[in-house]
Amino acid sequence: MSPWWIRIPVVFFIIFVLMEYFIDSGEKPAFLEYPITQFFLLLVLLILIAIELILKSIENVLFQTLSEDAKKRYVEARSQTWEWAWGKRMYRKLLGSKPVEKEGEIILDHNYDGIKELDNELPPWWVYLFYATIIFGVVYLARFHVFGDYDQDLEYEREVAAAQAAIEEYKKTAKDLVDVNTVQLLTDASDIDAGKAIYEVNCVVCHMADGGGGIGPNLTDQHWILGGGIKNVFNTISEGGRAGKGMVAWKQTLKPAEMAQVSSYLLTFQGTTAANPKAPEGDIWIDPDAPPVEESPADPEGMPEQQIDTAAVVSN
Ligand code: HEC
Repeated sequence: MSPWWIRIPVVFFIIFVLMEYFIDSGEKPAFLEYPITQFFLLLVLLILIAIELILKSIENVLFQTLSEDAKKRYVEARSQTWEWAWGKRMYRKLLGSKPVEKEGEIILDHNYDGIKELDNELPPWWVYLFYATIIFGVVYLARFHVFGDYDQDLEYEREVAAAQAAIEEYKKTAKDLVDVNTVQLLTDASDIDAGKAIYEVNCVVCHMADGGGGIGPNLTDQHWILGGGIKNVFNTISEGGRAGKGMVAWKQTLKPAEMAQVSSYLLTFQGTTAANPKAPEGDIWIDPDAPPVEESPADPEGMPEQQIDTAAVVSN
């Protein structure tokens, strides 16, 4: 009934859907989860093609056994099967042109050096497309200019917000992407707890549980040998301290996300008092990115004194 190029894909698709339905492969589709099913599908495809070829050759053999007369009738009947008839009818309808035999009805009566003009109707495909643009235009006008649905600014903002959310979402799953340039102070309790656990396993021997210091320097004061703030601390932990001091580079042992967590955790020591603090080492570190400290408001006493109008005094 239907042509082969519809039959094969449809049957193949049905088998594919049935296969996906019956094979339990969790989140992933079965043909990705179990590569063997790809061979199965290939086999199905080959069998479908083979069936088509066999049917075709049987038809051919039968055709050869027909008488000349019957052959003619057969070919005629074939060419009228719906697949072609439908396609041709549709094509002619959309084009809307008159068949050549009927051109006489629409020929215009002017004639330029033998060139004549036909007064054809506009082709329906074009006309319908044109109507569609009018409907689109009316809906568009009403929606955006009469009822004032979103404008381009709002659309832009929405897209940016959506992209931002997607980035946040991505960052959550890809915490290990941080490096010394992108690391930021983490404040989530889960990150701080994770940092604490890492600190207790790796760092306590030299820095003490409360950060008071031992072999390593005091981490509770504002003095830093290698610089304070999340970026410097992250860098120190990642690359290690000065050679021979005992602070190794932890990037071999800890993942970037873990270094960010432990950095954030040890910065919570800032301003606390350790039980047995080591004397400060290094310089007081001032965050260059911190917002500038507001200067105290100008002293009213410091206002310039009102000038005495000496000229007026003299003239008196
Ligand atoms: C073997 C002892 C030892 C261990 C373990 C150790 N550190 Fe250190 N740490 C030191 C020493 C010593 C220094 C000083 C380095 C220098 O002077 O260059 C230091 C310096 C630091 C500094 C810089 C302090 C400053 O004043 O600039 C930070 C931050 C730090 N360590 C964090 C950690 C973290 C986090 C861990 C655990 C992952 C850790 N350390 C493990 C010995 C250690």
